[in-house]
Amino acid sequence: MALRHFLTLRDLSSLELQRILDRAQELKRMQHSNTVYQPFAGKVLGMIFEKSSTRTRISFEAGICQFGGNAIFLSPRDTQLGRGEPIEDSARVISSMLDIVMIRTFGHDIVERFASYSTVPVINGLTDDHHPCQLLADLQTFQEHRGSIEGKTVAWIGDGNNMCNSYIEAAHMMGFKLKIASPEGYEPQARFLSEFADCVEVFNKAEDAAVNADLIVTDVWASMGQEEEQKLREKAFSDFQVNEKLMDLAHPDCLFMHCLPAHRGEEISEHMLDHKNAVVWDEAENRLHAQKALMEFLLNENLKKD
Ligand code: CP
Ligand code: NVA
Repeated sequence: MALRHFLTLRDLSSLELQRILDRAQELKRMQHSNTVYQPFAGKVLGMIFEKSSTRTRISFEAGICQFGGNAIFLSPRDTQLGRGEPIEDSARVISSMLDIVMIRTFGHDIVERFASYSTVPVINGLTDDHHPCQLLADLQTFQEHRGSIEGKTVAWIGDGNNMCNSYIEAAHMMGFKLKIASPEGYEPQARFLSEFADCVEVFNKAEDAAVNADLIVTDVWASMGQEEEQKLREKAFSDFQVNEKLMDLAHPDCLFMHCLPAHRGEEISEHMLDHKNAVVWDEAENRLHAQKALMEFLLNENLKKD
């Protein structure tokens, strides 16, 4: 059986994705009731971070520890990765000593190259093109608050990059309609959009996407690595703020999510995180439970292979 990785959401089947979401809920209940569950004692997770992180780092590290395993934090600054050792050589060495690896980096090709030389499962902890772990948490959060997302309408307001791309894949896999509103020039890549034309619609006004939505989601205007574009983007995105007025156009039960970190006064209004339908804190916590379910799936799949 081929080694399983999680580089984009589509590395899972829709059925596997649903099972992981259900399992995440079960693991959450267990964690909340202080049930000790340590099936992965002795297993070691490597975490390579080429970009900053609060949620991803803590949720992966806490998750593997709760499972009885351990995590090693690897920063390129302190490893030979930062001094130009090829990804392929690094992947062979690192995976020979670890049981599972998570990588947060820039180009998506870096996780693909690492995975193709790795002998253990590789998880994408965010690239410039995808953030599939966040989608596990978002889908779990929707399910926990509103039930199945199938047939619902989700409005993505903002940049058509990593988070948006993962939402497009989720719409395809989970059967919801995705309405994307991005400023001109910041839409998702046309090649990606045409592949998913059946479930995705693109607008150039946030209000048009928000009408009757069951979930409104946004993200920062300048992602990690785009800091020098901040001023330019503030101008381009100024009509794409998620605020109380925008929420009023949506379905009365419409949830609001944001992967965080958030910038009040930019992509969200000052009090948007306190909106009665904002579920951002559950969404952040669910990173832990969803990724535990993911690691359990990948580690067990890899054991089957041995
Ligand atoms: N949402 C998210 O990935 O957060 P961090 O950048 O803090 O990991
Ligand atoms: N789009 C953001 C997501 C942060 C979790 C970024 O890439 O910085």
